[in-house]
Amino acid sequence: MCGIVGYVGELPAAPLLLQGLKRLEYRGYDSAGIALANQKGLEVYRCSGRIQQLEGAMEGGTHCTQTVGIGHTRWATHGKPSDRNAHPHVSGDGRFAVVHNGIIENYLSLKGELSEKGYTFTSDTDSEVVAHLLALLYKGDVLDTIRQVVARLRGSFALGILCADTPGCLYAVKNASPLVIGVTETGCLIASDVTAILPHTRRIIRMEEGDIARLTIGAATVTDQTGHPVQRAMEQVDWDVEAAEKGGYAHFMLKEIMEQPRVLEDTMASCLDQNGEVVLEGVGLTEAVLHRLRRITVVACGSAYHAGMAGRYFIEQMTGLPVEVDIASEFRYRDPLVDEHTLTVVISQSGETADTLAALREAKARGSRVLAIVNVVGSSVANESDDVLYTRAGPEIAVATTKGYTTQVAMLYMLGVYMGRRLGRLTVEQNAAYVRELRDLPALVERCLTMAEEARTLAETVSQHEHAYFIGRHVDYAVALEASLKLKEISYIHAESYGAGELKHGTISLVEEGTLVVALASREELVAKMLSNIKEVKARGATVLTVTDCAHRDMFRESDALLTLPVSPGTFAAIPMTVPMQLLAYYTALARGCDIDKPRNLAKSVTVE
Ligand code: G6P
Repeated sequence: MCGIVGYVGELPAAPLLLQGLKRLEYRGYDSAGIALANQKGLEVYRCSGRIQQLEGAMEGGTHCTQTVGIGHTRWATHGKPSDRNAHPHVSGDGRFAVVHNGIIENYLSLKGELSEKGYTFTSDTDSEVVAHLLALLYKGDVLDTIRQVVARLRGSFALGILCADTPGCLYAVKNASPLVIGVTETGCLIASDVTAILPHTRRIIRMEEGDIARLTIGAATVTDQTGHPVQRAMEQVDWDVEAAEKGGYAHFMLKEIMEQPRVLEDTMASCLDQNGEVVLEGVGLTEAVLHRLRRITVVACGSAYHAGMAGRYFIEQMTGLPVEVDIASEFRYRDPLVDEHTLTVVISQSGETADTLAALREAKARGSRVLAIVNVVGSSVANESDDVLYTRAGPEIAVATTKGYTTQVAMLYMLGVYMGRRLGRLTVEQNAAYVRELRDLPALVERCLTMAEEARTLAETVSQHEHAYFIGRHVDYAVALEASLKLKEISYIHAESYGAGELKHGTISLVEEGTLVVALASREELVAKMLSNIKEVKARGATVLTVTDCAHRDMFRESDALLTLPVSPGTFAAIPMTVPMQLLAYYTALARGCDIDKPRNLAKSVTVE
């Protein structure tokens, strides 16, 4: 997965491309490059490292007068991060430059064929075959050549292409990787994501599967794979440019943590009517459909999977149906038992996660109805699902998800109430009580955000540890999964999570003097059990940090440290309990001097399997 950007217009392209790449850095950031075109031919700059390094190598690009170009920020899949593996890749004759996002699955056979014909490869990437294939098949008509190349490629590929023979044109291809066109006053842009386009225009065209575009200063023409022109609607994006910027916070992650009350409110408002009923617009889960269901399967990756784990308890309670939660990359290979009596709920912030998309297709092929919970409008997961519920988290830039996650959990809670009501399992009064609690969630989260200073102080201690074990019962176990992931992904502290009763079945052998155990205890009925588990680890020398609410504070006074919610977390505890855990992870990573928004080895949107 990588980010691509392109520009053709009246303005110098280099600064514009560099700016666009910076906005796409969350998609990958191990190397970057730019190719520029004019009558004299193509000029290429590329290097390993961040965009800043590329900018340095180009001296800011201010001397580059070309007004057409493509850019790329890479997350290595084939070939390690290095200068020679950085995009753009150029054909041996210097005629074509290509940037690619995705994976060319048949690149080895194509590489063999091209090598036999005398083409020399200068990188270890799969992408380079595209540049050479263009050169091989070129007879003077660039668009026709691109069509022929596309017909030979298997896999996923969004491409930006320049040809030295047509220096006033930028070409783009979309196939199973995201790509949007932006139309500005001065020309046209392409980008993997609207975030890179927003500073220049709000008018965008979403490319669809198989689309090939030819962009010039004055026009964007889109054709299908056979060369026939296709009409793609111009959309007005209402995301704010500001929303994609840090807004005064030191890191996107902190800004996104702080945005949670608002985005939770937006998310819930989008499916609550004035009478306090959950309404899921455009969703075909009628009573008849719901009554046919025998089970619900949730599939997702990473934090989205944890959201599924957190939502599961409530949905089971509301529907009386078994809810299974599966990791998308496992689901597809285990001959899953889903059929027309199953509702498959697919959760994805980006809507582009390759494993999630594959699981969605698997479920559909087996006759299951698929409902997606997605943040990105028009994303692949949204497009391919029967029903879509959009979280309203807005653009999330920090690689470690926060508001993306909590809005997913909120949406699952809304879905639970909706299904409970439609299935006749919720009385008017019960419905009203749940809706009231849901409406209170943003204010509850706001109160939990006041724990920032407390979390910062505790983070000083946490940051001294190299290992941490998170334990909890019931929904606190689901919170523990997300809390430990947050900590490990940004602070690089080894963290694991367990159902609190499970630790003693093996992992407790790792607990010794000073081992950090974070105990999550939000459930009234499980407080006594949690106390026993805390005693078990304390007896082995653990340092225990307990996270609970003010009502139970005294019961956990034996803990070495307490992080106390100023409010009762209530029925929808997964959300308020997660907030201090996000803050703890953030401040711990800060204390350890980590690159919080761009943790090593990770990427925001994982479009490879
Ligand atoms: C990546 C991100 C995670 C995210 C996961 C699933 O691994 O780093 O934060 O939870 O992908 O992403 P999705 O966009 O499908 O929610």
